[in-house]
Order: sequence, then structure tokens, then C-alpha cells
Amino acid sequence: MFRLQAVMEMPQVYLWFQGILGGRSADRYFLDRHVRPQPGNRILDIGCGPAQILDLLPSTGYVGVDLSPRCIAMAKARYGDRGTFVCQSVSEMVVEHPHSFDLVMAHGLIHHLDNPEAQLLFETAALALKPGGRFVTLDGCFVPGQSKVARWLLRNDRGQFVRTAEDYLALANRAFSDVRFTVRHDLLRTPYTHIMLECQTE
Ligand SMILES: C[S@@+](CC[C@H](N)C(=O)[O-])C[C@H]1O[C@@H](n2cnc3c(N)ncnc32)[C@H](O)[C@@H]1O
Repeated sequence: MFRLQAVMEMPQVYLWFQGILGGRSADRYFLDRHVRPQPGNRILDIGCGPAQILDLLPSTGYVGVDLSPRCIAMAKARYGDRGTFVCQSVSEMVVEHPHSFDLVMAHGLIHHLDNPEAQLLFETAALALKPGGRFVTLDGCFVPGQSKVARWLLRNDRGQFVRTAEDYLALANRAFSDVRFTVRHDLLRTPYTHIMLECQTE
């Protein structure tokens, strides 16, 4: 039987759908305003998907991690000379070199993780970051008064753990003391609500 979620797990379909929704300009906004990468930064991208964010990144030491073998195969085929790609889930990750990354990103990942794995994600990011480094995330978010279309899309997301801003912040605050957040309703061509977190180590 046809399953939309299974089709969306194909990296080519995911990229095509993102293009229709205006995901590329959302990616650019996320990078320019929140990630703010500098040439030479070491970046760990958890839940990297096919790693298309590399089209927009300056030359960096990039490590992408994703549990999908298909995404990692596509990332290696497209960007094999631009970084290192590892097929692992958040719960399998081991930080071999603690405090060695300038930036950790999770673009569209947290809403796929239940609370224990999401907590592990924040702890892993905190361990991987250098002092003063930042963990930057982007996810869909429930907020009071948002558009009904946005709410419907979020309820029907592949990720089963879309949260309120308060719930994302509660997770982040257990691993980071400095957490800032931004909510935007206008990053896609369709009504949708995103939350971006910037979590900084001391
Ligand atoms: C919405 S996609 C985002 C992909 C990419 N970051 C982007 O910006 O397009 C979410 C990604 O998270 C990955 N993912 C989901 N659960 C995961 C987990 N537990 N550990 C690692 N990756 C996971 C999926 O395979 C998928 O590629």
C-alpha cells in the first residue's frame, strides 16, 4: 500500500519537497542568522540528511551524522570530498574528541526524537563543543494562535515529537545554561511555525 511517510524518507523526494516549500531560503536564513559559520570552523551536523546544507556552507571541517543509510550514501556520493559522514543514531553516537567542535547543528531533528533521545542529543552536543561553542537547532513548533494550516502540517509531520516552545526549552536548559530562542511563522511558502534554539557553552 502507498505510504506517504515511506516515500518522504527517500532523500531525493525529501529534497524535491523541500524545494517546493521554499526550504532552501529557510536553510539560508537559519545559517546566516543563527548558525553564523566562519571559514575553518569545525561543524558537527546531527541528523544531516543528504547534507545539502553543504551547498551553503563555507569551507569547514564538516562531520555529518544520520541514522538513514540512504541519506548517508547520498551525502557521500555528492559531498564525499567536503566532509566525513557517519551512519549512526543519536543514541549510538560516541564523542571521540570532546570539546573539539565550534558549532553543532541539528536542523529538523529534535522533533523526530522522544524525550530521552532528545536529552541525549543536547548532552552529546554540549560534550562535543569547545568552550564558547554553540549548538543551533531548527524544528517545527506548536504555539498558541498559530495558523490552522501550520498546526495541521505539524500534527501530520513525519516526526512524532513536535513540541511547544516551552518543551524544547526545558530539554535545552538541562544541558545548557545559556539558551536563546526565536519563533518564526514565515520561513516557508506555506504557513508553518519554526523554532530556532541557540545554546552556548560556557
Ligand atoms: C527533517 S530531516 C532533516 C535533514 C537535514 N538536516 C536537512 O536539513 O534537510 C531529519 C533527519 O533526521 C534523521 N534522524 C531521525 N531520527 C534520528 C536519530 N535518532 N538519530 C540520527 N538521525 C536521525 C533522519 O534520517 C532525517 O535525515
